[in-house]
Amino acid sequence: MKYIIGNWKMNMSAGEIVAFTRGVKKYKIPKNSNVQFGLAVPYVYILGMAKIQDHVWIGAQNVSEHDNGAFTGEISASMLGDVGLDFCIVGHSERRSLFNETDEQVNAKIKKLQEYDVMPLLCIGETEAQYEAGSTKEVLLSQITKAFEGIDKTKSIIVAYEPVWAIGTGKSASVETIRETVGFIRGEIRKLLGHNDTPILYGGSVNPSNSNAILRNAQVDGALIGGASLDADKFMQIASSLF
Ligand code: 13P
Repeated sequence: MKYIIGNWKMNMSAGEIVAFTRGVKKYKIPKNSNVQFGLAVPYVYILGMAKIQDHVWIGAQNVSEHDNGAFTGEISASMLGDVGLDFCIVGHSERRSLFNETDEQVNAKIKKLQEYDVMPLLCIGETEAQYEAGSTKEVLLSQITKAFEGIDKTKSIIVAYEPVWAIGTGKSASVETIRETVGFIRGEIRKLLGHNDTPILYGGSVNPSNSNAILRNAQVDGALIGGASLDADKFMQIASSLF
C-alpha cells in the first residue's frame, strides 16, 4: 500500500473544498493502484468532508494531549474518535516551532489517539541548522525515541519524514538524501517496535515535477503534501506517479 496524504494546514474555504472534490473526481484511479488517499483538514470542515469523500481517509492536523474537560479551544482524541476520523497528524514541525510543542506532548498525543483508535501520523524532521551541522540522524532518533516511549506497539502508526528546510520552500530533499534518511528511520523504528509494518512517507515541497522521482526511487511509502494538496490537479498529478 502507498499513501498520498494532503495536509491542508490553515487553508481552504467551504467553496474551495467543493471545487477540490469536483476536481479530484475528474481523475480515474485504477482499481489495482493500491493507493490510500488521505486529507488532513481544518477541524471545522471535518464533518462536511466525511460526507463528500468516499474511500479517502479524513484526518485532523492536531489533537489535545488531555482528556475531555476545561481546556477551552482544544479538541480531544475522544472527539476525533467519536466522529470516526481515520488519522491525526502529530508533531508537525509548524506545531513544534510556532506553538512550542515538545516531544513529551507529541508522545502524550500519540497515546491519547491510540486510546480512541485514531491512527497517529507522526511528523519528524531536522531544521536547516541541524542538517548543516550533520546532526540529522541524531535529531530524528531522539524525536522517534521520545515519541514512541510507552506507546502500544501493536497499533498502526504512520511516520512522515519532513525536513523543516524543505517545507514550503520549493526546495525538496534529493532522492538520495530521502532514501538514505528514510532507510535510517526504518531501521530505528524496527528496533523500537520490533516489526517492519510502519509506513514511512516523505514530505517537503513535493510537487508534480519531483513526485515521480521521489515516489518511485526514494524507497518511501508515500508522500505528505502541503501546498500542492490545495490544488486538485496537482494533488492528483502527484498521486498518478504511483499509478
Ligand atoms: P509543502 O508540501 O507545502 O512543502 O508542506 C509539506 C508539509 O508540511 C506537509 O505536512
